[in-house]
Amino acid sequence: MNAHAALPNAQITLRNLVGPEGRHLAAHAPCLSVQDVDFYYGPKHALKKVSLEIFTREVTAFIGPSGCGKTTLLRCFNRAYEAIPGAYMTGRILLDGRDIHDPDLDPPLLRRRFGWVAQKPNPFPWSIAENVAYGPRLHGIVAGRADTAELVERCLRRVGLWDEVKDDLGQPGTDLSGGQQQRLCIARAIAYNPEILLMDEPCSALDPVATAIVEALIEDMRRDFTVVIVTHNMQQAARLAQRVAMFHLGRLVEVDDAETLFTRPREHITEDFLTGLYG
Ligand SMILES: Nc1ncnc2c1ncn2[C@@H]1O[C@H](COP(=O)(O)OP(=O)(O)OP(=O)(O)O)[C@@H](O)[C@H]1O
Ligand SMILES: [Mg+2]
Repeated sequence: MNAHAALPNAQITLRNLVGPEGRHLAAHAPCLSVQDVDFYYGPKHALKKVSLEIFTREVTAFIGPSGCGKTTLLRCFNRAYEAIPGAYMTGRILLDGRDIHDPDLDPPLLRRRFGWVAQKPNPFPWSIAENVAYGPRLHGIVAGRADTAELVERCLRRVGLWDEVKDDLGQPGTDLSGGQQQRLCIARAIAYNPEILLMDEPCSALDPVATAIVEALIEDMRRDFTVVIVTHNMQQAARLAQRVAMFHLGRLVEVDDAETLFTRPREHITEDFLTGLYG
């Protein structure tokens, strides 16, 4: 049965979300394996028995109503939650088969394997060049001026910003437009060569034109990076993601390839969320 026909009140056309050609998943290895994860902010039980896999060089989208735990799970991957007093998780997360809490694993080295892009573009209040160069220099990835300049150019080219800013590298990153700032933040996130980009609603503060540019960039990023993106925009999830995970009240409702989840969701709560009946 056509999933869309079963949704008389659909505010969006599920078939339109995936396009006529549909999508075909390549066989990739999982790079992150989430196993029975529970998460607590003190007494607040934010994730409940979550298990899923994130696959290398795919875009995985996390969707679900506000407060369902999407950002929390991103914070688990790179152990960023450890900076929050009283926050802890149980269960296991394996990165390339290795427990991220393995005591032999150096937390700063673990964090370097992830890039983080926040909801609101948040460049450092420094020059455009320094925004990109700071992290790699801190981590000892670049030292000399020539190496640093080369890295800055490479990262800014990678996000399509070089031609727009090459004559203004000494200007403050905060003077750029919102969309340019977000691309600068992506350049900053990839500058120390992470493997996995964690993007928490990266386009929610951008206008449609800037959103389209950043979306094209994310699509292109998949050649080199694994991407996990949180989004409230279902069209965006459908455009970008190969795999989609739906959360509700701290639980993973279902995870599937994007076409299946958007056209034939297994769970009613997913259908209701996708069609705007809930959330
Ligand atoms: N620092 C914190 N301290 C205490 N509780 C928190 C903290 N951060 C999040 N929470 C709670 O944990 C739950 C999950 O929050 P989370 O931010 O992961 O949701 P989300 O799915 O990302 O929501 P949104 O779509 O609104 O960003 C919510 O109930 C939230 O109030
Ligand atoms: Mg969030």
